[in-house]
Amino acid sequence: MEKTLVLIKPDGVQRGLIGTIIERLEKRGLRLVAAKFMQVSPELAKKHYAVHEGKAFYPALIDFIISAPVMAMVWTGPDAIAAVRQTVGKTRGTEADPGTIRQDFALQARYNLVHASDSPETAEAEIGLWFKPEELVDWKRCTEDWMYE
Ligand code: CMP
Repeated sequence: MEKTLVLIKPDGVQRGLIGTIIERLEKRGLRLVAAKFMQVSPELAKKHYAVHEGKAFYPALIDFIISAPVMAMVWTGPDAIAAVRQTVGKTRGTEADPGTIRQDFALQARYNLVHASDSPETAEAEIGLWFKPEELVDWKRCTEDWMYE
């Protein structure tokens, strides 16, 4: 089963949306396997967003991600990467589909509440960047017998 990195960004933390965002993922049927509430260092921020270096929004993005704590998590489940991104919605709140976190709670691009890995390769690299292997918990939700084929 796929694993994916999910960050509740500083705007989600400051706006008191940690519980709401986790609830959406839990109710979708995904399984939380790691979580830590943390202040992001500039070094980690730059590594995480290295792919965006050079883009016009990059400096403000780095300042934003280190501006307040984040809730970093790993979630798993069948097609977890696509499932999480579907629940989160498109980058810009005004382009996100109805029922998504970003359409319900965001308007623009930078303050979009959540980061979610976009491919299996990215997920593996991002999980390795944010978590040690021993921080991932091996368990199963009782709901999975009624949800996972
Ligand atoms: P995220 O999924 O974390 O990946 C890169 C982030 O850059 C993105 O969410 C937004 O927070 C931010 N971002 C992407 N495009 C723009 C943009 N056009 N202007 C400002 N920020 C952006």
